[in-house]
Amino acid sequence: MFLPCAAQTEPFVASETQRITGVPQQAVLSQRGGVRLQVSDMDALLVQIMWLNLHSRMAQRVLVALAERPYRSEDDLYAFASDIAWQQWFTPRQTFKVEVTASHSPLKSLNFAALRVKDAIADRFRALQGSRPSVDTARPHVRIYLHLDAEVAYLSLDTSGEPLFKRGWREDKGDAPLKETLAATMIAAAGWNPAEGAPVPLYDPCCGSGTIVIEAAQIACGVAAGARRRFAFEHLLGFDAMRWRQLREEASAGEHAPLAPVFGSDVAHRMVDFARRNAERAGVAHAVQLRGGDALQRMPPSSTPGVIVMNPPYGSRIEAAGQAGRNLQARRSVGFSSREFSEGGDGAEFFAELAAHWKSHYAGWTAWLLTPDMKLPGKLRLKESRRVPMWNGPIDCRLFRFDLQARRTPGP
Ligand SMILES: C[S@@+](CC[C@H](N)C(=O)[O-])C[C@H]1O[C@@H](n2cnc3c(N)ncnc32)[C@H](O)[C@@H]1O
Repeated sequence: MFLPCAAQTEPFVASETQRITGVPQQAVLSQRGGVRLQVSDMDALLVQIMWLNLHSRMAQRVLVALAERPYRSEDDLYAFASDIAWQQWFTPRQTFKVEVTASHSPLKSLNFAALRVKDAIADRFRALQGSRPSVDTARPHVRIYLHLDAEVAYLSLDTSGEPLFKRGWREDKGDAPLKETLAATMIAAAGWNPAEGAPVPLYDPCCGSGTIVIEAAQIACGVAAGARRRFAFEHLLGFDAMRWRQLREEASAGEHAPLAPVFGSDVAHRMVDFARRNAERAGVAHAVQLRGGDALQRMPPSSTPGVIVMNPPYGSRIEAAGQAGRNLQARRSVGFSSREFSEGGDGAEFFAELAAHWKSHYAGWTAWLLTPDMKLPGKLRLKESRRVPMWNGPIDCRLFRFDLQARRTPGP
């Protein structure tokens, strides 16, 4: 099996995959762009497909890696795809689509490569069963992935359907929601897992539509990531509906009261409403406390120091609001052009004030901030104790860790 994931998150996905499946460590291999998992036989494979889709929080998809073979031309790809027993996985009654990705492929047209694989699949079905499945590019029952590197072609079958960051609860998006898979990776990188460690509180003071706090609340309550959605494997041959019902029941029997408190706040009340509605649909409204308020003014939500996990506002599209926003608006109204605003409004003021507020009130807390802004520690005037590389889609980001200490007061 192959579980693709965001670049540089592979080690987190590998240890999650090992924990979920319980397979020996050597059966899970971290590779560039994903994690490879060896499964002993077909029965184990069918169960792991269901179990991994249900429980993986950080992988993008769960693929069955069918075969790989050296290639040079589109005809090689036709021959390769003709040799695979597609009839074990689906029938001519299902629709399918071939998706193609490549790195350093010598072929001129990837579309033509995908077309040759599609032809091979259709021809194989026609030869064996007298009819062929139709192609549906918008909502296929079965997605087949062709990956081409410089010399080797890989064919795999998608068992997830919609990518796994779609947990099935999001209706209210907000301006720039994080992917749920990335939020889960931030939480894992922060080492926050109340089922394993101490039950410290988690707080996102710029929670937006609630992605981080909802992930955290589901983790705190043992709610499976995929408990509220459907998967492509439900259309595949060999799908065992009874076993699937059992696995889902097992997962929901494992849900419990929150093991640690989770808090979120945002200066935009509209966002807090979104987050509240999302938390309800995600089944964790009881496990996350949401409030409005400016991050520059909000006092710690608990007397026990905890962990702050957030992706703060950045750039001119998602500006800091609240007090810092008002200061910038005032500067703008006295005649700064928009260019000067974006240069002056790079968040420096917001982050300087945020750090001052944290030094006054958040001693003992640990803050983890995901940002594409490599200058963030300078703006906070704090030295990070860790920086974890992490891609947010196409954006190269860092998850910075800051250990917050009280401001040093001058001695007598
Ligand atoms: C990058 S978004 C966070 C997105 C969020 N993680 C999600 O998945 O929806 C930044 C958020 O910071 C909020 N924000 C901006 N200035 C703020 C402030 N001074 N205090 C609190 N929240 C603020 C914005 O309203 C926005 O929701």
